[in-house]
Amino acid sequence: TFVHTPELGRLEALTRCAVGVDETGTIAFVQENCQDYKKYTLDFTKLSQEQVRFVDVSDSEVKFFVPGFIDTHIHAPQFPNNGIFGDSTLMDWLEKYTFPLESSFKDVSLATEIYNKVVDRTLSNGTTAAAYYATIHAEATNLLADVALTRGQRALIGKVCMNQNSPDHYIETFEESKQSQLEVIRHVEARDPTGTLVSPVLTPRFAPSCTENLMEWLGELRKSRNYHCQTHLSENKREIEVAHELFPDYDSYTDIYHKSGLLGPKTILAHCIHLSDHEKDLLAQTGSGVSHCPTSNSSITSGEARIRWLLNSNVKVSLGTDCSGGFTPSVLQVAKHALLVSNHLVMKSENDFEKLSTSDVLYLATVGGAEVLNMDVKLGKFQVGYKFDTQLIQLDCDNSPVDTFAFQNPRWGQVDRKESIDKFQDLIDKWIFNGDDRNVRQVFVNGRSVLQKN
Ligand code: GUN
Ligand code: FE
Repeated sequence: TFVHTPELGRLEALTRCAVGVDETGTIAFVQENCQDYKKYTLDFTKLSQEQVRFVDVSDSEVKFFVPGFIDTHIHAPQFPNNGIFGDSTLMDWLEKYTFPLESSFKDVSLATEIYNKVVDRTLSNGTTAAAYYATIHAEATNLLADVALTRGQRALIGKVCMNQNSPDHYIETFEESKQSQLEVIRHVEARDPTGTLVSPVLTPRFAPSCTENLMEWLGELRKSRNYHCQTHLSENKREIEVAHELFPDYDSYTDIYHKSGLLGPKTILAHCIHLSDHEKDLLAQTGSGVSHCPTSNSSITSGEARIRWLLNSNVKVSLGTDCSGGFTPSVLQVAKHALLVSNHLVMKSENDFEKLSTSDVLYLATVGGAEVLNMDVKLGKFQVGYKFDTQLIQLDCDNSPVDTFAFQNPRWGQVDRKESIDKFQDLIDKWIFNGDDRNVRQVFVNGRSVLQKN
């Protein structure tokens, strides 16, 4: 069974389905209700039995493939701080918890240890693609690219650029920032020349920590080679005040990035909580994407992003764990938090339209992520021409956190419901609210098995 969300809010379950994947990791066929998948495959591909490898995973009623999660905002070096934020809010959290930890990534052996753990942990939570922030250090950032490539995870690798309003122990000059940015681009592009798995992403931390000339230089670089770009936008009220104080000549916080040349169809903006109508329109016009980080926004008391409002204005939206503003590397947990935060918006505004369903948040975690990352390959659906980036979920595995007695509910035994979408809607809801990484049995990226649990 393959379950995905081809459109926002629409869950589709493909049952007794055979999916063929070619040697480039691309889906070659999707055949539903396949009686004899081996015969179908050989007929379709005109290959011999020896040229095809068959994998049959239909040994449980509650086992299904879903597209791999796409985490569009995650700080790899901040992992050791997951769960540790006290009662801080953004600006004091950065000073107290974040900058001291990131600063220690000058030490490459520390970076090696942490970055291996990070990629291991995100993969085992079903994250097949991630937009990573590293630190200001070129050497450690290059290492993160190497780890993602070696482990087979799709990744955008961002060397953080920051040359003002930062502590003495964690700041770079404009010149240093440029040099290390170019060094990281050279390294990442040399390791994966086609950019199939890893590619660089320009990463001005956020306007308060970057000078105008640094952002403009990055804007020029972005346009010259059509690079990805990522930064933070409108996360916290104090942060917005600081941005206005530092950049008084701009119309808005969003306008700072716009005039610096940083917005575009390959730009990822994390948070976007306190935007004006005009700022929201700028995002839609430039094709920039949003990374919604509800776990982080609730933890460090940043606010509730209006996701339906963004979606209704044709702004691309995806999900980000934002470790360690957020406390979990699991996009599944973040999807659940996205749903709960949308319910809080409904309770506050009594405006039902804000509500996000489980199908909506699964879409944001997969197809939405693919739209926001906007890579050269197609991701997030089980359709011909898409990459086979997927996770195999089993709800009745050993130690499953999902109560399996639910599957003995009389409804489940009814023949007419058995293969219907209702059954899979229930399964997906169970998984989103009660599941965790124990339910992820196997992970594939680009058609290759990158993680298997026994
Ligand atoms: N704004 C600037 N830097 C950061 C960061 O590391 N995390 C979050 N959540 N917001 C930021
Ligand atoms: Fe962040």
